[in-house]
Amino acid sequence: MTILNRRRFLQTGLALAAATQIPRLVLADTSSDDLDYQLIVEPADIGLIEGTSTPAWCFNGGFPAPVIRARQNKPVRIEVVNRLAEPTTIHWHGLRIRNDMDGVPFLCQKPIQPGDTFVYEFTPPDAGTFWYHPHMNSIEQLGKGLVGILIVDEEQDPGFDLDLALAMKNWHVTPDGAFTVLSKPREAARMGTPGRLMTINGEQNPHYQVPAGGAVRLRFANVDNTLTYELNCSDPEVQILAIDGNPLAEPRPLAGYLIGPGMRLDLGLMAPESLGEQVHFTHRDKPLLSLISAEGDARAQRLPRLPMNPIPPPDLDNAETLSFAFEWDASINPVNENGEMHPVFWTINRVAWQGMSDGHIPPPLARLERGKTYIFSLENATQYHHPIHLHGHTFTILDSDSRQIDSYQSDTALLGKYERIRVAFVADNPGRWMYHCHVVDHMKTGLMGYVEVV
Ligand code: C2O
Ligand code: CU
Ligand code: CU
Repeated sequence: MTILNRRRFLQTGLALAAATQIPRLVLADTSSDDLDYQLIVEPADIGLIEGTSTPAWCFNGGFPAPVIRARQNKPVRIEVVNRLAEPTTIHWHGLRIRNDMDGVPFLCQKPIQPGDTFVYEFTPPDAGTFWYHPHMNSIEQLGKGLVGILIVDEEQDPGFDLDLALAMKNWHVTPDGAFTVLSKPREAARMGTPGRLMTINGEQNPHYQVPAGGAVRLRFANVDNTLTYELNCSDPEVQILAIDGNPLAEPRPLAGYLIGPGMRLDLGLMAPESLGEQVHFTHRDKPLLSLISAEGDARAQRLPRLPMNPIPPPDLDNAETLSFAFEWDASINPVNENGEMHPVFWTINRVAWQGMSDGHIPPPLARLERGKTYIFSLENATQYHHPIHLHGHTFTILDSDSRQIDSYQSDTALLGKYERIRVAFVADNPGRWMYHCHVVDHMKTGLMGYVEVV
C-alpha cells in the first residue's frame, strides 16, 4: 500500500454504499494544485451477484472504478500501472487533449506491457462527464470491467446539492457470477453481444438517498460494450443539462433519450420535498435506479445552469464535406499475423479495419487540414444502431435525414437504422485520431478507422 499512499489514492467506494446511504463519490478537492493520481489495472474478484464472485479486471481492485476528478484548465497526472498479464493503454474518452496522451496503442503510444507503468498528463479544456477505458483487446478488457467515469469540474462550482456518477453496464455473467462469452460472431454481425446483468455502478437497481428538496446532478455514462439504453424517469420534470459531456444552451426534457455505448447524459432534478418519496429511472420497462428523498443539506433553490464549453464554432460557409458510409459486408475475412481468420462484418467506406501492430499502421480514412472546418456526413447503411465516436475533437450535430434534432455538441453520434446524420467540427487538434463505432464487437469486426489532422 505504500505506493498508493504516495499519491492521492482513488477510492472505489460506491460498491460499499448501502441502500440507505448517499453513495460516495471520490470527492477529490480539485481546487488544489496537485491532481496526481494512480490507477492500477489488475484482476480482482468482485461481488456483482450476492453470494457469488466474478473474476473481473478492475482499476484499483474493485468495481465501480474510481471516479477520476479533474478540473477544467488544470493539469492532471495519472500514473497507470499494468498488472494484467497482457498489454494495455488507457484512453480518456471525450477529452480534447494532446494526441500522445490519447491512449491508442501504436497510433499514439507504445502499449503498456505487463508490469510497466505509463504516466498520462493532460489539461482538460472542457468541463463535464467523460470516461476512461483501455483501447486494447477491448472486448475483454472493457467487458471484464475496465471502465470508469472521469469528471472534469467546472472552474466555478455550479452549486448542486448532490452530484452522482452512474456507470451503466450490462455484465456478461451467469447467475453464478461466471463470465459468459463476451462476443459471439453471430451477435457481432448484428446488434452486438448483450450482457445479461443490468447494473448501475455494479449493482442491480440501486437505491440512492438524495437530500429532500435538493438539486441533484446525475451523470449517466454508458460504459457498456453493446447496449443502447432508453432512459425514462418517473419525474416528468427531470431535465437534460448536458449531452456527452457538453452542456446544452437550454435544458431539455428527458423523454426516452437513447444513450448508446460511449455516450453520457447529465440530468438535473429537484429531489421530492417529502421524505421517503422515490424517483425511478428505467431502461424500457426495466428498473435501473431509484432515488429516495432523505434528510440532507439542500441549499440550491432551483437547478443550477452549466456554462458552455469552449468548443471552436465550425465555419459552415467554408466547410468541406466528407461522407462516410457504414456498411455490412461479411464477405471479407482477413487473416491476421498468425495466419488465423478473424471475422469481419462491417466497413467504413468499404474498408474494414484490420488492426494495427508495431510495424503496421493502415492508412487514415481521411487527411484533414488543421484549422479547417469539416462536415462529416455519417451514413448508416444498416438496420442496426451505431454510436460513431471521434477522438480528440468535439463536433456539433447539425441534422438528421430522419428526425428533428436540435443541434448540440458531442463526441459520439448515435445513428439509428438507415439514418444519416451530419456533424461539423474544426480540425484543430493535430495527430491521428481514432474514429469508430463504440459497440465494441462492431469496432473489433471492422467498424473502425482513424483520421489524421496535419
Ligand atoms: Cu471510448 Cu476509441 O473510444
Ligand atoms: Cu474516445
Ligand atoms: Cu456499430
